[in-house]
Amino acid sequence: MFSRIARPTLCIANRSLTTSSQNNAKVAVLGASGGIGQPLSLLLKNSPLVGELSLFDIAHTPGVAADLSHIETRAHVTGYMGPDQLNAALKGCDVVVIPAGVPRKPGMTRDDLFNTNATIVATLADAVARNCPEAMICIIANPVNSTIPITSEVMKKYGVYNPNRVFGVTTLDIVRANAFVAEQMCLWLPLVCNNTHFSK
Ligand SMILES: NC(=O)c1ccc[n+]([C@@H]2O[C@H](COP(=O)([O-])OP(=O)(O)OC[C@H]3O[C@@H](n4cnc5c(N)ncnc54)[C@H](O)[C@@H]3O)[C@@H](O)[C@H]2O)c1
Repeated sequence: MFSRIARPTLCIANRSLTTSSQNNAKVAVLGASGGIGQPLSLLLKNSPLVGELSLFDIAHTPGVAADLSHIETRAHVTGYMGPDQLNAALKGCDVVVIPAGVPRKPGMTRDDLFNTNATIVATLADAVARNCPEAMICIIANPVNSTIPITSEVMKKYGVYNPNRVFGVTTLDIVRANAFVAEQMCLWLPLVCNNTHFSK
């Protein structure tokens, strides 16, 4: 009987031991003041896996960093603003998340974002290659199917490309699409849905 009780306790102890070396990550968010960057930084500030949170943007980062630093979680938050501070923001990072760039306006496709966002992502990837070449890079800026190859090519240029460390983040678009389809089919929140046909 006791062995059954003891087993989960051992598992928990084991898990905390094995993850102890990984729960102190330094994470940078590039584009941290934007519509995606701010809530993403808030989520990261609440993660027990993050020891240091480095927020970079071309605007507003000191305020965003100050606000997040008031949350009583362990991640230490620093804000960096403007190209002059980009290298400092990236030094020693384990993970770099890039939501920097312009979002779509009505009538635009993701491909319309290419000209602007390609340059932004290439510049940021260049700084990652020079300052934290081993970091995992998560690209959110659209069009992701173009910004990923751009990032990979920049890393290759510096001889630091590792395909296992470059990620395209599409989760947000996917959950949005799921929510949209569910809403159209009235599968979402059936109690508040006008069309009761599907909710029965
Ligand atoms: N992959 C996905 O699932 C997904 C989902 C939503 C949005 N996106 C993309 O994410 C990107 C950001 O969207 P948003 O709604 O946060 O836009 P936003 O305009 O609210 O924020 C963009 C931020 O990037 C910053 N920025 C611009 N140039 C920069 C640079 N050179 N260096 C650092 N920061 C810079 C801006 O100052 C701003 O704070 C867009 O490209 C959008 O299409 C991707």
